[in-house]
Parts: sequence; C-alpha cells; structure tokens
Amino acid sequence: MIYLTRIERFNAAHKLYNENWSEEQNREVFGKCSNANWHGHNYELHVTLKGRPSPDTGFVFNAKELGDIVKEVIIDKVDHLNLNIDVDFMKGKLTSVENLAIAIWDELKPHVEKDGVRLHCIKLYETATIYTEYYGEASL
Ligand code: NI
Repeated sequence: MIYLTRIERFNAAHKLYNENWSEEQNREVFGKCSNANWHGHNYELHVTLKGRPSPDTGFVFNAKELGDIVKEVIIDKVDHLNLNIDVDFMKGKLTSVENLAIAIWDELKPHVEKDGVRLHCIKLYETATIYTEYYGEASL
C-alpha cells in the first residue's frame, strides 16, 4: 500500500454553541468561539487515499481528479460560507473541527473509493496549531 495526499484550503465562518445550554455555560465551555456574531477560520484539508500504483499510470489515484472531486464535493459547499447555517452536511451538528472532519469523511468516501483505492485519513487544520485526524473507525 502507498498513500497519496491532496491538500485543499477553504475559509468558513462558524460558532460553537450548544442550544441546550445557557448563554453562560456556552461562554464558559467555548469561550470566544461561542460569539453570537460568528468568527472564521482558514481551514486546511488533507485527504489521504491508499492503494497500489496502477501499472498503466503509476498512480494510486489521479491527483488532479482527486482535487476536482474534493472541490466539487466539499470545498464548493463550505468555502466562504457559514458552517452552522449554509452547509447541509453539518445541519444539526456542533461545528467543531472533529465533527467537520467526520462529516467530510462521510461525504467524500463514496466518491473516491474505486478500483481497490480506499480513503485512509481526513486531516483537518482549523488553525496553525489545532488539527484533527479521522480514519473512519467504525466504533464511532
Ligand atoms: Ni472556531
């Protein structure tokens, strides 16, 4: 197996806010991230596939095609938008970087898995110092 990663970037607004909690509890747990008037992040998304190089191309997956798929299935649906309001696959979810990575995995998986290629990891940077990784563990 060899691993191929494509990186894409997007900007999006969100807030972390649990509707079942009081204003005070939200502020205590989420701090500035619960700000009612939103805030934004410059996200960096790493999509890693695994497979074997094709005897015809030497590719696990055509990297240009992978970029096009990630743009169409994910980036176009989140870029310059509000994760809490505008994004179908985040409806009813807390828009943490963890939940966003899981949702991206679920959205992308059917589009990239073919001919023995598997989605291996979604790595999502929310800031330069915070990122999450998801490997699709069935136990979640
Ligand atoms: Ni935030």
